[in-house]
Amino acid sequence: MAGNGRLAGRVAVVTGGGKGIGAVYAERLAREGAAVAAVDVDGAAAEAHAAKLQAEGGQALGLHVDVTDLASVEAMVRRVVERFGRLDILVNNAGLYTVLLPKRPFYEIEPKDWDRTLAVNVKGLFLCARAAFPHLKESGHGRIINISSGTVFAGTPGFLHYVSSKGAVVAFTRALAREVGQYNITVNALAPGLTASATAREVQTQAEFEAPLQLRTIKRVQVPDDIVGALVFLASDEAEFITGQTIVIDGGLNMH
Ligand SMILES: NC(=O)c1ccc[n+]([C@@H]2O[C@H](COP(=O)([O-])OP(=O)(O)OC[C@H]3O[C@@H](n4cnc5c(N)ncnc54)[C@H](O)[C@@H]3O)[C@@H](O)[C@H]2O)c1
Repeated sequence: MAGNGRLAGRVAVVTGGGKGIGAVYAERLAREGAAVAAVDVDGAAAEAHAAKLQAEGGQALGLHVDVTDLASVEAMVRRVVERFGRLDILVNNAGLYTVLLPKRPFYEIEPKDWDRTLAVNVKGLFLCARAAFPHLKESGHGRIINISSGTVFAGTPGFLHYVSSKGAVVAFTRALAREVGQYNITVNALAPGLTASATAREVQTQAEFEAPLQLRTIKRVQVPDDIVGALVFLASDEAEFITGQTIVIDGGLNMH
């Protein structure tokens, strides 16, 4: 799997990399030659996924990490650098995702659910970027790729905490990009539409996945593989002059 891909010699961390779309990101980065740490609050899933990537010939490490916990995030970066010697790419994918957050009017959202959503989906990115920064700076071609959501551009109702958190990811991406450009670190975001990830498939029906097709330009259900091309591109040298951007990947549903 590893060897002479576009990301050979690079080291990546994928948060939420144990399952769902994050697992697909980790797999694709490993195929492109990067050594990958799949880190997840579901430590067993992270370890199992890393073992699978290793069995396929990749260089991988699975770690239990809670991105909302400073000590856990700092330990993650230490372990990755101890194991692989460097850190070049941070994929901030871990998130509390809409299918796990019941749809409800904003005035029925419990403040504790609001706080938890913002803690994972926003503070988690901050803590990971903060801990990774010294190594990304040293890398000379550091990359931070944050996962936002098409719901920000659609203003999807029923998930005000989620949509607000993913809107913050766009702002975070822009402001952080301005601060770290001087170190040749790029910061970009991907905003996927409703994607049939393994996790989403467990809780959503085929009809729900097909609902966006009426408004989508490309008339099929979105799958994780639709997102990985942009991820690898942004992680690669080809994207060294692209920063502060959010790429919407939703088959042409939202155009802005
Ligand atoms: N599936 C979609 O339709 C869709 C669309 C747009 C954006 N997204 C975003 O893509 C990302 C992945 O979504 P998914 O569909 O694969 O969902 P998912 O629930 O399968 O993936 C989220 C991962 O993050 C992990 N995680 C949750 N809290 C964590 C924490 N505190 N610390 C570390 N890891 C934690 C989970 O264990 C899980 O593995 C999320 O950020 C989600 O908001 C998903």
